[in-house]
Amino acid sequence: MCGIAGYIGYREAYPIVIKGLQRLEYRGYDSAGIMLYDNKIIISKTKGKVSDLEKLMNSENTKEGTIGFGHTRWATHGIPNDINSHPHVSNSGNLVIIHNGIIENYDSIKQELTKRGYTFQSDTDTEVLVNLIEEIKKTNKCKLGKAVQIALNEVIGAYAIAVFDKEKPDELIVARLGSPIAIGIGEDNKEFFVASDASPFIEYTKNAIYLEDEEMAIIRKDRGIKIRKIKDDTLITHEVQQLKMNLEQIEKGGYDHFMLKEIHEQPHAITDTYRGRLIANKGIIRMAGVDDNIEKFLNANRIIVVACGTSWHAGLVAEYLFEDLARIPVEVEYASEFRYRNPIITDKDIVIAISQSGETADTLAAIKLAKEKGAFVFGVCNVVGSSIARETHAGAYTHAGPEIGVASTKAFTTQITLLSLIALKLGKAKGNLSTVDYQNYLQEMELIPKKVAELLTIDDKVKYIASIYKDVPNCLYLGRGYNFPVALEGALKLKEISYIHAEGYPAAEMKHGPIALIDENMPIVVIATSKGHYEKVVSNIQEIKSRKGKIIAVVTEGDTQVKAIADHVIEIPETNEAFTPLLTTIPLQLLSYHIAVMLNKNVDQPRNLAKSVTVE
Ligand code: F6R
Repeated sequence: MCGIAGYIGYREAYPIVIKGLQRLEYRGYDSAGIMLYDNKIIISKTKGKVSDLEKLMNSENTKEGTIGFGHTRWATHGIPNDINSHPHVSNSGNLVIIHNGIIENYDSIKQELTKRGYTFQSDTDTEVLVNLIEEIKKTNKCKLGKAVQIALNEVIGAYAIAVFDKEKPDELIVARLGSPIAIGIGEDNKEFFVASDASPFIEYTKNAIYLEDEEMAIIRKDRGIKIRKIKDDTLITHEVQQLKMNLEQIEKGGYDHFMLKEIHEQPHAITDTYRGRLIANKGIIRMAGVDDNIEKFLNANRIIVVACGTSWHAGLVAEYLFEDLARIPVEVEYASEFRYRNPIITDKDIVIAISQSGETADTLAAIKLAKEKGAFVFGVCNVVGSSIARETHAGAYTHAGPEIGVASTKAFTTQITLLSLIALKLGKAKGNLSTVDYQNYLQEMELIPKKVAELLTIDDKVKYIASIYKDVPNCLYLGRGYNFPVALEGALKLKEISYIHAEGYPAAEMKHGPIALIDENMPIVVIATSKGHYEKVVSNIQEIKSRKGKIIAVVTEGDTQVKAIADHVIEIPETNEAFTPLLTTIPLQLLSYHIAVMLNKNVDQPRNLAKSVTVE
């Protein structure tokens, strides 16, 4: 993972880079470092967050220079400490590098370089790469760009790198394979920004280029950019894209945490997902990616969903949606498992890849495998222009806006919204849904944002429940049907931000094992909405009660049966069964959020995690 941000131009680089790193901190926050050049190289780096780096810079260093870059790290090779922090410098002291990714064959290269007299301070693969570039530059007597190119053809792995050479201080080299790089183009081609995504330079320019895999760019102050293929040196021209993101979208907007802001953004985000696609009064669902490939969807033997984490949970909801509404068989696969099996896929299969970031390495690899085997691959991504969005044959964006909190919230509900639209569209086209049912679904979808907004007003109640259970060591989440994936998602949210052990289960599975865990100290969150196996879930609740478990139930408003037995109930507005995940998820997000805040945990940047997992 890791975030990289850099600048070359006429402004002071420090404030641009440091602010950029703050915005990219969601990508990793084990350590942070910066390089500035002002007739000499200045490097500062430290274990900890970007704020620690700022303190260090304030106490130690000048901050001058109109060229510089920085890095915020999610540790892969080498523990998070000062020495392993980026940037890394070559043995001569001339070359400086930052790197997001993993060089898999670094050990053999390191051994070779050691034989040639190189020494290494850190345990990182990155320090090996910068010295490999140095060695190639020296032995081939070539320019930095050429040396980087040769080196990258020797390494195996994934990278987004930025390299600086003291001997060429008006030049930055960047390159990518598997990890993203956006280049912002400033006024009159006189200044350039580089970053893992466009957020670090959004207030300076809306013009950006996204490097493709196996491409490198040589960026020269005042002289523009040259992009080349790393493999064969071909010169490439990229279309300059107009960024739509704005500054307010990537700031906290008065909320204490990005996660809370993003939970509260869901009514808007869901509306943005269906805006222009759902025209309920005319019975239309319009989605270019599906419309253009409608025959493939209608004739598909099955749909295979590949995704990770929360996106995988959205995929599980999609399984119910597609099977129920469109009668298409669905398999939902962890991308990380799928990519290493020998899956049976044909050109009659449609693979749907779901990813908020659009950069998840396992999902990307699964897509490549599916394409090799002849499947049509459709992407559901949030980040516009991301690798997955580009790698898939067609797709649709969720338009949730930037999700900065590491724990995914609005990405989940917008993915479900989008997948619901696709399932409804196909259900109607295949004749599985009557016009009346179809029309009811469409009208109900338009009401969902209002219902989510209504639900968000129960925050105080959820906060009170959080205050009772915040110190428990374990928690169980149960749900059935459409709400089984929501139980998994609720448990994932709690464990990732509060570090409380939590498990999600289909409610009926409880009696096959987890019931042994239940005693008077165990809270069990049960989703027991009025539609979909209600009576059966009520029986499960009775079973828990008779073992003295504490029940936090999510029910449909007006419920009386569960209310009579549960310790706490949270009511959601009435909706059809297929859309309940869009509502039941909300209180579970709030519960995890409040527990984590009460436990004083870092809600937006939980330990050991990062927002986009671009390594295996
Ligand atoms: C959980 C979470 C992760 C991601 C997973 C996939 O809150 O954020 O589990 O859902 O890493 O990420 P994307 O959706 O970017 O592919």
